[in-house]
Amino acid sequence: MVRSIERQHASQGEMFRKGETLAYNPPLMTTDHELILVLDFGSQYTQLIARRIREIGVYCEIVPFNTKPDSIAGRPLRGVIFSGGPSSVYEDEAPHADRVWLELGVPVLGICYGFQHFAYFLGGTVEASSAHEYGRAELHVTAPSELLAGLPTSLEVWMSHGDVVSAPPDGFHVVARTENAIGAVEDHSRRLYAIQFHPEVHHTPLGRDILANFALRICGCIGDWTMASFIDSTVASIRERVGPNGRAVCGLSGGVDSAVAAALVDLAIGDRQTCLFVDTGLLRKNEFAEVLEVLRREMSLNVVGIAAGERFLGELEHVVDPELKRKIIGREFIEVFQIEATRLEHVDYLVQGTLYPDVIESVSVKGPSQVIKSHHNVGGLPEKMHLKLIEPLRELFKDEVRRVGREMGLPEEIIGRQPFPGPGLAVRILGEITPDRVALLQEADAIVIDEIRGAGLYDEIWQAFAVLLPIQSVGVMGDQRTYESTIAIRAVNSQDGMTADWVRIPYDVLARISSRIVSEVRGINRVVYDVTSKPPSTIEWE
Ligand code: XMP
Repeated sequence: MVRSIERQHASQGEMFRKGETLAYNPPLMTTDHELILVLDFGSQYTQLIARRIREIGVYCEIVPFNTKPDSIAGRPLRGVIFSGGPSSVYEDEAPHADRVWLELGVPVLGICYGFQHFAYFLGGTVEASSAHEYGRAELHVTAPSELLAGLPTSLEVWMSHGDVVSAPPDGFHVVARTENAIGAVEDHSRRLYAIQFHPEVHHTPLGRDILANFALRICGCIGDWTMASFIDSTVASIRERVGPNGRAVCGLSGGVDSAVAAALVDLAIGDRQTCLFVDTGLLRKNEFAEVLEVLRREMSLNVVGIAAGERFLGELEHVVDPELKRKIIGREFIEVFQIEATRLEHVDYLVQGTLYPDVIESVSVKGPSQVIKSHHNVGGLPEKMHLKLIEPLRELFKDEVRRVGREMGLPEEIIGRQPFPGPGLAVRILGEITPDRVALLQEADAIVIDEIRGAGLYDEIWQAFAVLLPIQSVGVMGDQRTYESTIAIRAVNSQDGMTADWVRIPYDVLARISSRIVSEVRGINRVVYDVTSKPPSTIEWE
């Protein structure tokens, strides 16, 4: 199956991987680590299952529910997990897996819908639950269990289902119950295990132990997925692919993903990689110079800095429409990048910081959704320039990228940096973008970051920044009436940028930010705080 994934939202401030259409043609990876596969039936928690398994030290991949077992032939498959999902197994449109998964002889764990799917295949009874269980529930262990071994006899779990299995298939025995449902069943001879609750969410406090029992005890994994092993095997495979004479170009954004990708390629081929770092004139205050310095001095990367601010700001003159701003910046970016890249001695490869969530977005059931913001990217560049792609982070989640970066000893200034959107301050300046308004926002933004750091909050917050609004309001300074611009402060916490909650920054920190901005930044006489979450708002204002 080849499916098209229209990336709608990106999690991070990377410039080089947003909005592209990817061929979803599983299995996508080639690592030879022992593998647990998650079949995705469309649960909002599918990615969490894979992250938890990887935290246990076992490599885990997500594939669509209808993936054929023979497509992973030859890989060291140790176990399979059927994820949850929003459907009811007997609905016409309900997703069904290939039954052969249950007959391979490797252990299979069904979670929620996955459990009901076992019953559908093997002859149990699934019913609409009389009492819909949503939220916390108490699970009582009623019989000796492999999955629940070493756990207390009663534990808190998270339920989220409409249907329940009222009678498990023959051969299964019930090992745990909640008040309203069968909680867990096992069939040791066929090595099949199923649970009604979600062990992957943090509302199931002992969920990690349950998944560890599955991955380590039941599947017998040794836990060979470490960041050090990832670095070794990735560097070796890049070296082999690029060969002794190949050359690569890499676009850096100053963010963590592109920096870690470049660092891995640097280990493999050294200065045969040239990195390009473009100053769009829309970066944070002093960011271009500071980041360039870190990339060169501390990371010893072969970087060319390209000062293109005037060009970008020139093209953006009088543009107020958010989508048009994004399109212009994306277009200019590709042009600048292309001009610089063609100056380099023959280049064969383009390095991109594509992450695993970009690759597997849980689309197998949902399908692509509406585009809210077009992310700028260099999507068409590889074909235009006849470049082959190197995507060393394609198998990693964001937290793993940070761990790889730390393992490689990259500077914390890069690893711990808050995400920043590709179009930069353009999407934080509502209305026209002029050099003066950019400078104004840079000053205000620097104060926000400075105070957030001073309060020790920088590492705890996903993103904190200032936004320049297109309105003026009346104020008074000394005895003078003022009529000046407004800054909004935005600070959010998020796991992946897809949803976010506004941060309850202490009042005294907000007070310091506000009084510093109005006294130090000329042209601002009012500061407001954005108290909306995502959804319904987005993180960036445009
Ligand atoms: P929104 O505003 O869509 O942002 O809630 C979600 C996350 O994505 C970042 N963002 C971008 N990153 N190119 C990027 O590389 C973009 O065009 C872009 N737009 C938003 C945003 O900062 C947040 O982390």
